[in-house]
Amino acid sequence: MAEGIKAGFIGCGNMGGVLAGVAAKALGGDSVYVFDKHPEKTEKLSLNYGCNKAWAAEILEKCGIIVLGVKPQALPDLLEKIKEPLTRRTDRFTVVSMAAGVKTSAIEAALGEVPVIRIMPNTPCASGEGVILCSKGSFAGDEDLNAVLKMFEPAGKLLTVPESKIDAGCAVSGCGPAFVYMFIDALIDGGVRAGLTRAEATLLAEQTVLGSAKYAIQTGAEPAKLKADVCSPKGATIEGVAVLEEYSMRSAVMEAVKAAYERTVELGK
Ligand SMILES: NC(=O)c1ccc[n+]([C@@H]2O[C@H](COP(=O)([O-])OP(=O)(O)OC[C@H]3O[C@@H](n4cnc5c(N)ncnc54)[C@H](OP(=O)(O)O)[C@@H]3O)[C@@H](O)[C@H]2O)c1
Repeated sequence: MAEGIKAGFIGCGNMGGVLAGVAAKALGGDSVYVFDKHPEKTEKLSLNYGCNKAWAAEILEKCGIIVLGVKPQALPDLLEKIKEPLTRRTDRFTVVSMAAGVKTSAIEAALGEVPVIRIMPNTPCASGEGVILCSKGSFAGDEDLNAVLKMFEPAGKLLTVPESKIDAGCAVSGCGPAFVYMFIDALIDGGVRAGLTRAEATLLAEQTVLGSAKYAIQTGAEPAKLKADVCSPKGATIEGVAVLEEYSMRSAVMEAVKAAYERTVELGK
């Protein structure tokens, strides 16, 4: 990464805010500039990570990496506003978009021949155990991609994929945290129903999901095999598994991913 690079974030809500924090860990807060319509959001980033509160104009003028963190519906309007200030730049800069479904070609059509990196992050990036999928636009080079990857290194796992796969990835890792939280929440309620306090059930449920994922990663074994390993004949676990099958848990999750994928594609139209 070019020494002394500055990164700017326009739109610092749930996801943009998390990624500004990640960038501050990698680059130092004094190299990160943040702007949002709601000043309280950037105030928090300034207090927590030492990021600089800035105006969009300042970010567009001096940041080498410009991250757009607004909702897909708000992106066309933002692109329209930033086009002119960006044409005045004579140095190299990279535009990063995290907007679900929006193709790099659409951003290039709005901004011209500028280097664009499209990413698909998730909120667990805040804990250092997130996932960010990355794809290069037509005018972005390896140097642009590498600078973005380096800046997001503290987020967790970073995967460069062809852009044709990013919407499917979004349905799994971008939307997946909500599905996993629903599962944890249900596991907690089940524990309370069986007699645990909510605090006890929460600790057990969260640690079980965390440990199961870690163990699957460590062993590299198929989750189906790991499930079979803990189901003893006529045991308690297989009884629970049978109920999940009866209530179509697996097909419900597969349908949820399909619906999220279809909606992601639709958001880009
Ligand atoms: N949340 C996730 O888990 C997740 C995961 C992967 C990708 N993403 C992507 O991340 C992007 C942001 O999602 P989010 O959930 O973080 O949304 P969010 O919480 O609503 O954050 C967006 C922020 O940007 C502000 N904003 C809108 N237009 C602006 C402008 N022109 N200048 C400055 N600030 C502006 C919004 O203000 P207003 O609310 O007043 O409009 C809001 O504070 C989306 O494109 C989404 O597809 C999100």
